[in-house]
Amino acid sequence: MTRQEATGHGRNAVEVRGLVKHFGETRAVDGIDLTVREGTVMGVLGPNGAGKTTLVRILSTLLAPDAGTATVAGCDVVRQPRRLRRTIGLTGQYASVDEKLSGWENLYMIGRLLDLPRRDARRRADEMLERFSLTDAARKPVSKYSGGMRRRLDLAASMIGRPRVLYLDEPTTGLDPRTRNEVWDEVKHIVADGNTVLLTTQYMEEAEQLASELTVVDQGKVIAEGRVPELKAKVGGRTLEIRPADTGDLRAMAGALAEAGLDGISGATADAERGVVSVPIISDEQLTAVVGLLGVRGFGIADIATHLPSLDEVFLAITGQRATHQESEPENEEVAA
Ligand SMILES: Nc1ncnc2c1ncn2[C@@H]1O[C@H](COP(=O)(O)OP(=O)(O)OP(=O)(O)O)[C@@H](O)[C@H]1O
Ligand SMILES: [Mg+2]
Repeated sequence: MTRQEATGHGRNAVEVRGLVKHFGETRAVDGIDLTVREGTVMGVLGPNGAGKTTLVRILSTLLAPDAGTATVAGCDVVRQPRRLRRTIGLTGQYASVDEKLSGWENLYMIGRLLDLPRRDARRRADEMLERFSLTDAARKPVSKYSGGMRRRLDLAASMIGRPRVLYLDEPTTGLDPRTRNEVWDEVKHIVADGNTVLLTTQYMEEAEQLASELTVVDQGKVIAEGRVPELKAKVGGRTLEIRPADTGDLRAMAGALAEAGLDGISGATADAERGVVSVPIISDEQLTAVVGLLGVRGFGIADIATHLPSLDEVFLAITGQRATHQESEPENEEVAA
């Protein structure tokens, strides 16, 4: 039977209903529903302590849920743990390879643990090192690997058993931007091969790069879900930041933008501390319109930048609360349109 026949098409790779896991008073997972369609990447976005790792551990059969159900590739996490484990791969939040062994030895050992005959385990280790561009470092101890090489080895390790569903728990936290890009490229390859990925992350940009759909969790609950563009639109897509040539123009600039009623622009914020006016935009046309208007009004502009919404801005937009749950006085002066 081919993989296609075994899994069917357009089915759900992961189905989670009313999942609950409490640790004493802590409601780590507090009634989560989640569906991941086969062959897609679901991003689970949330701040520290949201319950992401707990969810992944339940879906990996490493932790038993208190209530609710979860199936992965048709296997129930509680009733069919052995079968389920054979269909999944896990790259945990913390590196799971042995530092003292070489990259090749780590992969060979995992192959043997998965009951591959020696010859197959050897071949699979070679294949995966090649695939994740680690052939040159195959014989070096992992302790000599860079952060990015370790993460690639982690990915290679989780792919040894040809899993249909792969969990990546914060795969790039702590990596520099270049290394992060390397890992993203590898994840894109894994998805292009038709695998299903459940990715947890604290980074909106990572979710955007990799995931087609997002589930935003906080304090064990789903607080928003949908396709990436929908969620982006909710938070205003990007933020345009304009630095006036004359700092004294900040308020006047924000006021002019608020009054102009440009299409789809709902407000501008003067940030006196940083000396910029921030405007949420969702299209390049809006960017051009804003800059054009300021030119016509005779404002001098020292600098213009756009940035993607941070996780904190997503949270603000969705819940009206800061992701960190800090009580803080608003620093910016909002000029509503
Ligand atoms: N084994 C455990 N015993 C007690 N409390 C736990 C345990 N595991 C997790 N928790 C608590 O459950 C909550 C959710 O933790 P979890 O590790 O799932 O969050 P997370 O979203 O993965 O966070 P991070 O982004 O920091 O990895 C936290 O409050 C955490 O302290
Ligand atoms: Mg975690």
